[in-house]
Amino acid sequence: QTGMFTYDPGFLSTAATQSAITYIDGDKGELLYRGYPIEQLALHCDFMETCHLLLYADLPTASQKEQFSKLVTNHTMVNEQMQFFLRGFRRDAHPMAVLTGLVGALSSFYHDSTDINNPQHREISAIRLIAKMPTLVAMAYKYSMGQPYMYPQNRLSYAGNFLHMMFGTPCEPYQVSPVLEHALDRIFILHADHEQNASTSTVRLCGSSGTNPFAAIAAGVACLWGPAHGGANEAALNMLHDIQAQGGVEKIGEFIRQVKDKNSGVKLMGFGHRVYKNYDPRAKLMQETCNQVLAELGLEKDPLFKLAKALEKIALEDDYFVQRKLYPNVDFYSGIVQRAIGIPVKLFTGVFALARTVGWIAQLNEMIGDPEYKIGRPRQLFTGAERRDVPPLDQR
Ligand code: SDX
Repeated sequence: QTGMFTYDPGFLSTAATQSAITYIDGDKGELLYRGYPIEQLALHCDFMETCHLLLYADLPTASQKEQFSKLVTNHTMVNEQMQFFLRGFRRDAHPMAVLTGLVGALSSFYHDSTDINNPQHREISAIRLIAKMPTLVAMAYKYSMGQPYMYPQNRLSYAGNFLHMMFGTPCEPYQVSPVLEHALDRIFILHADHEQNASTSTVRLCGSSGTNPFAAIAAGVACLWGPAHGGANEAALNMLHDIQAQGGVEKIGEFIRQVKDKNSGVKLMGFGHRVYKNYDPRAKLMQETCNQVLAELGLEKDPLFKLAKALEKIALEDDYFVQRKLYPNVDFYSGIVQRAIGIPVKLFTGVFALARTVGWIAQLNEMIGDPEYKIGRPRQLFTGAERRDVPPLDQR
């Protein structure tokens, strides 16, 4: 009650944006990219086709796909100066801190693609960002390991190149496993866009000031870092490690009691969603990939994965979670797959940012391309003090 009228605080956090890119029906558990169901895209397309779809509003023909993939491949290297930015960080800096800095720093190298209101600049910066994110994420990882950076290899696929830059060394070339390459490509597809989530709204609001595309994407990286959003996959794995440390499956009952106790503040990370009040369709696809990767790597018996399965079972059967529609979300399974691939937990959100970059760019370009767009200015409902005069200091 503000004295003027009662309002729903939730309204201010869900003011509508108009977009033609991604459609979600939270009740039906439906997700469409430019009209195509995510299930079909995950089955019949790869990430490069999905990028083309999100950016240009349709799937590429074979020759368009070849041309687009080649363009991305030819922009995967970063300026050699970028490595000096990394040296400013502690080796144990969180990769998302490094990535936020590196992505923003890109704007200082590419003056031919910083004018967000120039369609050519938007197109070039889009290709550069999609191409360079895997290189930057892998550089953040190598820096934290004290290992030399691996240059991208043009003969590899987008996902294969990322695995090579992450796990290859000058002494030992990395053998890209098709199962892991496919699993990573699917993680990229499933995380590519998700309509007006927190980080996408951040990118839109930031870009609406006319700042350069690299700065707007850096703002999205910073927002995605939060544990309630993209940081959930890292938080979900840390939660599993914590339960494991307290005794694993035998202690799961105690943990669930904490989650049900509102005062504990303990949440089931990787479960629940602001929009999906049915199952997150991405989670189903990610669960499938998770089982394939665990089988390929012979990890089905791994205690942490058994613990994850036990938690999933409880969330799908226990009334407390069923009534609150707290199903596993995409982050729950993507964290498990990434751990199986060997990606360190701290890098999970960096992988999410890598995948979501194309969605952020598509949403930003959609807004900037609309001649009606203006700088964003969210409204507020004032609930503070009425007008009053300043009392002298000795009367306060
Ligand atoms: C992503 O927006 C997007 O699209 C995001 C994303 C994307 O692709 O961009 O999908 C990616 O961010 C997925 C979500 C990842 N986050 C997590 O997994 C973190 C854990 N989840 C929670 O923080 C939570 O579920 C949210 C933030 C995701 C949603 O929170 P809401 O909007 O408060 O959920 P709700 O209103 O549906 O909650 C209903 C009830 C509430 O309890 P009651 O007041 O009814 O008693 O369930 C509770 C909530 O407190 N609840 C949880 C819970 N999530 C909600 N209780 C325990 N564990 C949880 N995870």
